[in-house]
Amino acid sequence: MNLKGKTILVSGAGGGIGTALVRALLEKGAAKIYAGARSTPALEELLQIDRVRIIPVELDITVPASVAAAARQCSDVDLLVNNAGVNRCMGLLEPHAMEAARAEMEVNYFGTLAMCRAFAPILARRGNGAIANVCSIIGLVNLPVNGSYCASKAAGHSLIQGIRAELAPAGVRVVGIYPGPVDTSMTAGQAMPKATSMQVAGAIIAGLANGDEEIYPDPMSEDVQRKLMAAPKQVEQQFAAMIPAR
Ligand SMILES: NC(=O)c1ccc[n+]([C@@H]2O[C@H](COP(=O)([O-])OP(=O)(O)OC[C@H]3O[C@@H](n4cnc5c(N)ncnc54)[C@H](OP(=O)(O)O)[C@@H]3O)[C@@H](O)[C@H]2O)c1
Repeated sequence: MNLKGKTILVSGAGGGIGTALVRALLEKGAAKIYAGARSTPALEELLQIDRVRIIPVELDITVPASVAAAARQCSDVDLLVNNAGVNRCMGLLEPHAMEAARAEMEVNYFGTLAMCRAFAPILARRGNGAIANVCSIIGLVNLPVNGSYCASKAAGHSLIQGIRAELAPAGVRVVGIYPGPVDTSMTAGQAMPKATSMQVAGAIIAGLANGDEEIYPDPMSEDVQRKLMAAPKQVEQQFAAMIPAR
C-alpha cells in the first residue's frame, strides 16, 4: 500500500505506538490522519507537529456511540489502524483476574471488533482500503504473567483472520501486527529488552508499504514467530517457564 496521499485513522494515538505511527505516517506523506484518543487534550503535543494534516477525534472504542460518531467523522479513510489496547499485567489465577480479563476483552477484542464492523462498509465502498490491527506476539503464545491480556490478543488474532476472509471479496486488506516488547507506558517498570515505539512504527509502515499480511516489527517478535513456525510446543514451554514465583 502506497501511504502517500492516504487518509488514515489511528486509534489510541495519544501515546506510545499510536503517537509514533502518526509521526511516521506524516513523514511518509499521508494526506490526513485522524488521531483517535479517549481524551483529545492528550493529543496536544502531537497536534503541534501539523495542525492541518492531523485531525483530533474523540474516540473510546468500547462506547458504541463514540465508535459510530468516529465512523461518521472519518468516512473518507483509506486505512484504519486499530492500535488502542490495554494490558492489566495479570495472571489468570490472580485475585482480580476476572475483572482484568473482562476489561482487556472489552477493549482488545470487543472494541476492536466494533471498530472493524463500523469501518468495514466505508472501506468496502472505497474499494481498495485496509484495516491494520495491532495485536501482539503474545497473542500467539501465552506469557502467564500477562495471561488474560494474551487471551484477549489471541481473540484479536482470530478476529484478524476472520475479518480478512470476510472483507477479501470487497478488496479490503486486513493486516495483523504482532510486536514484541515496546518501550511505552504499557511496559513501564518492566525490566526487559524493548524496541522503541519509533522503531516499531517504522517497521509497521515498511510492512504496510510492502503489502505484508502479517507484520513482526522488531527482532524479538521476528525471532519468536520463526520459532513458533518451527516448534510451537517448545515456545509454549519456554514462555510457561517465565512465571514469577508467588
Ligand atoms: N508496549 C508493548 O510492549 C506492546 C507489545 C505488543 C503489542 N502492543 C499493543 O500496541 C498497542 C499500543 O500500545 P502501547 O504500547 O502504545 O501502549 P499505550 O501507550 O498504553 O497506548 C495504548 C493506547 O490505547 C488507548 N486506549 C485504551 N483503551 C482505550 C479505549 N477504550 N478506547 C480508545 N483508546 C483506548 C490508550 O488511551 P488512554 O491514554 O486514554 O488510556 C492509549 O493511547 C496496544 O494494542 C498494545 O496492546 C504493545
